[in-house]
Amino acid sequence: MVAADTLRSSGPIEADPPGFVPGFVPGFVPGFVFAGFDAARDAALAYLGNTAPNPPVGCAILDQHGAILAVGGHEKAGAPHAEAMALSRLRESGRSAEARRLLVTLEPCNHQGRTGPCTEAILASPVREVWIGCSDPNPRVTGHGAARLAEAGLSVRTLPAGRLRRDCEALILPFRSWASRRRPWITVKQALDANGGMIPPPGARTFTSAASLHLAHRLRRATDAIVTGTGTILSDLPSLTVRHLSDHPGRRRVLAIVGGSALPEDYLAAAAARGFDVRRVPSPDALPALLGAAGVLWAMVEAGPSLLRSLRDSGLWDDQLTIRRAASGDSPDHLSVETAEASGPTPLALLPELAALDQEEPCSRES
Ligand SMILES: NC(=O)c1ccc[n+]([C@@H]2O[C@H](COP(=O)([O-])OP(=O)(O)OC[C@H]3O[C@@H](n4cnc5c(N)ncnc54)[C@H](OP(=O)(O)O)[C@@H]3O)[C@@H](O)[C@H]2O)c1
Repeated sequence: MVAADTLRSSGPIEADPPGFVPGFVPGFVPGFVFAGFDAARDAALAYLGNTAPNPPVGCAILDQHGAILAVGGHEKAGAPHAEAMALSRLRESGRSAEARRLLVTLEPCNHQGRTGPCTEAILASPVREVWIGCSDPNPRVTGHGAARLAEAGLSVRTLPAGRLRRDCEALILPFRSWASRRRPWITVKQALDANGGMIPPPGARTFTSAASLHLAHRLRRATDAIVTGTGTILSDLPSLTVRHLSDHPGRRRVLAIVGGSALPEDYLAAAAARGFDVRRVPSPDALPALLGAAGVLWAMVEAGPSLLRSLRDSGLWDDQLTIRRAASGDSPDHLSVETAEASGPTPLALLPELAALDQEEPCSRES
């Protein structure tokens, strides 16, 4: 679980569109809202990397005193939305009658999709007050869920700027990228040795610490695609799977390989058998359309210096995590996060050890 107070400031947040905030609360947020939103955020984080093309969303239901009665997260596309999950758990607990407040990281939907509108499910419950973390990124539906609830007489509040709001925005950034630009959020991960080199010594595939390796695998679990180059495949034959922690059951991810060199057929077949939807692209320019069409919300680049240079030069990146090996073998690696937009928000802030980074911080968490 991510400790609430370690989450990184994720920079300026765009204002809600006019009309979205029927019950804006200027500055004041009651204490129970913090605990409730932290629980809702953690419920969403549990399925981060499993929901595409839907966004990760979490929800908590509270009683009139602010005690949490039930929590739910959206597990995957086609499964109930977070609000429906929390309401279902509430019913299972036998405490439905006590429900008064519902806190959700993303504005509830007001349209019939594969599941019914969440607004109607909320209106059918005893909930009288709804707190919304951030607006729906889709301009055609934003504000509709909040308006429906307010019109039905519920008190609807949206979070003011601050840590809770930033958490909710960080959760939705990859989906917002996909919904508005039709391309995923692209995170570059780069490991450097103590001399700033990217090439592991002969016979090795990595030179970072066990803690950094664990971080990298958590990132793989949270993302929907890995982007690499033929150079990395040919030199390392990397498995690129989630290890060191359990993956989402049955999860398939896109593996996008840039470059025209021939690759061993047995490697490509084995990658497909490991759960990858393997795609080859002749140049980085083809990545946005390919990944967007595949419903990839968040892509992670794990490539050598040649492809990283191309992506940086063409602006095909949104943030970069750099893991630098310390000169002394016993010292923790150093981590730094850079964003393409100066001081811009980043979903990397959802990872506890990256939450409070300014420039470079020691990575001391052990796996
Ligand atoms: N430290 C780290 O974080 C890290 C991560 C991954 C890999 N590595 C290391 O990096 C080394 C491999 O480096 P690398 O630079 O050769 O590998 P790479 O960047 O993964 O792949 C290079 C290939 O990508 C294709 N490519 C790159 N830019 C392109 C462009 N603009 N248009 C078309 N194709 C483009 C080219 O493929 P074609 O030539 O086939 O057209 C190029 O040869 C290995 O030793 C590996 O261990 C290090």
